[in-house]
Amino acid sequence: MTGFARRDVLMAGIMGAVASPLVARTDIPPSLDVLARRKGLRFGSAISWGTAGADRGSIANPPYARLVAAECGVIVAENEMKWQALRPSPTAFAFERFDAIVAWAESKRLATRGHNLLWHQPKWLPRWLNSYDFGATPKREGERLLTTHIDTVLARYGKRIESYDVVNEAVRPSDGQLYDTSLSTAIGGAEATLDLAFHTARAGAPRAELVYNDYMSWEPGNASHRAGVLKLLEGFKRRGTPVDALGVQSHLVTQGLDARASVTRLERDWRQFLDAVTQMGYALVLTELDVRDNGLPTEITPRDRAVADFTKGYLDVTLSYPAVRDVLSWGLCDRYSWIEGFEPRKDKALRRPTLYDREFRPKPMREAVAAAFAAAPPRNRAT
Ligand code: XIL
Repeated sequence: MTGFARRDVLMAGIMGAVASPLVARTDIPPSLDVLARRKGLRFGSAISWGTAGADRGSIANPPYARLVAAECGVIVAENEMKWQALRPSPTAFAFERFDAIVAWAESKRLATRGHNLLWHQPKWLPRWLNSYDFGATPKREGERLLTTHIDTVLARYGKRIESYDVVNEAVRPSDGQLYDTSLSTAIGGAEATLDLAFHTARAGAPRAELVYNDYMSWEPGNASHRAGVLKLLEGFKRRGTPVDALGVQSHLVTQGLDARASVTRLERDWRQFLDAVTQMGYALVLTELDVRDNGLPTEITPRDRAVADFTKGYLDVTLSYPAVRDVLSWGLCDRYSWIEGFEPRKDKALRRPTLYDREFRPKPMREAVAAAFAAAPPRNRAT
């Protein structure tokens, strides 16, 4: 089948336009999750909560929800499990939106990853927590707040969530040191706070995969971030903190049109980092794949080509590690990607960071991910 015809078939499925559901279809290309599973991997994406009719990357937006259900085996809530969403006040939990996402995933037989139990930066904690009065026994009160939060979330979802980003982004990229927050100041240090988060998670979900998740990447400028993460992971091992995997967010940034040359330049440092992580015994999860199309022309064809080639190069190197289990993209459709708001392009052209364009059409980046799965060495999966 030509690329064009194939695209139309996939689109027909996603847009719900397939005429006869009774005819067995043999012409639908395998989903990314099917391709991933042939190698012992899984593929997934972020998805949000939304109201019906809203133009969002949500479970209530039929074309987006169909796309995610068609391509994925696992999903992650883009924002709805974070403290800022779950914790309106020190005493309250607001589970409705995340509950709706987990229920939607289960109705589609998709697994859900938990993101996250502690985003260890003041910027991402609720305002009330940043100015919280920890009282006369701050250590005890800080520990109580943190463990109550984690216990409550884990008790609610039980075995329904098998992998959690327990701690998110604790390392300051500029110097590799750990951030401090009101919680860690009260508890008496960042290390003690992160350790407590992981021990609490292990006790509450003994069989779940516990992940430290961060955005140290392979582009220039990430060396101190990577070094800081390695130091943190070594400390976890030394102290016996129960951490199973490193979440490699994979918010990639292209380095110009010649993707192959960029990959060749970046590969050595990246392998050194992944070697160090895996030699410590950690598994790897690619948790938030997307691409900032920097240093690329406005014109779409060469831009998409370079994004796809850079992604393929990154995945070829990274999936060569059998320690990688899951690959999740941070959204599946350019229309809803957070990158547009986070860092718009200098030429004001709309960003193209994901696998599908704003009209839900697959882009070369989708083919790149499919090709990388096809080329990846197989691995054994315990779960
Ligand atoms: C982002 C969401 O996509 C945005 O909607 C939100 O405003 C901020 O957070 N690293 C992470 C994710 O771990 O939780 C972030 O998600 C993207 C960077």
